[in-house]
Amino acid sequence: MNKTQAGFIDIHCHLLPACDDGPADLNESLKMAARFVESGIKAVIATPHHIPGTAWAFPAEKIGKNIDRLRLAVEEEGIGLEIYGGMEIALHKNMERGLDNGVFLALADTDCYLLEPEFQGLSDDIFHAIDLFRCRQKKVILAHPERVRIFQQRPEKLVELVQDNLVQVQVNIGSLLGSFGADARKTALWLHKKNVIHYLASDAHGEQKRRPPTPALWKKLHGIVGEKLETYCIVNPGNLLYSRR
Ligand SMILES: [Fe+2]
Repeated sequence: MNKTQAGFIDIHCHLLPACDDGPADLNESLKMAARFVESGIKAVIATPHHIPGTAWAFPAEKIGKNIDRLRLAVEEEGIGLEIYGGMEIALHKNMERGLDNGVFLALADTDCYLLEPEFQGLSDDIFHAIDLFRCRQKKVILAHPERVRIFQQRPEKLVELVQDNLVQVQVNIGSLLGSFGADARKTALWLHKKNVIHYLASDAHGEQKRRPPTPALWKKLHGIVGEKLETYCIVNPGNLLYSRR
């Protein structure tokens, strides 16, 4: 494990200050950033919630400025963490308008967008939203589908989407460890066995609560997914960052 620990990349976390239910201020963001580095994570994509009609819907420009400010502060503190920008885009009614008006921020200047399905919804809206992105030559990474009821009930649907090359799948580290309940854990393990997970991410929200992984956590995860840990947390996220425009 030690040989790989220097290069972990986290593609989904709430690190930006005062953007959502992540850190309240810059000080807490810096503490979080230090925790990421302690656990061997070298780069993160900060993905604040984007939920139109709520207080968590900052424009892409504001998120960009927030990232610049945090990068500067991290550098001043000597914390060796690369920070990239993105959004966790909640499924909503006006996806098409958001896409056509350039409201959404892609992950780290790639053509990939992190899309969060409704947790309890059982409609086909998520499949329609995936189509909207695909029609515009944009790629979708589904945020923690193992926590989503429609995919807990029909996980084979995710296998189809991945095999048809329509989405990539990001599973939360906490789901594999049971932090989000038995159904999420069972679905995450099933997806791992079916070989349809692309990324494991922290979805961390703070320094204490839903915090970045501890160094000891990687051993636990290795015990669950074995050598795939490197694929999920280093190789695939690295390929995503290298595909930047
Ligand atoms: Fe999240």
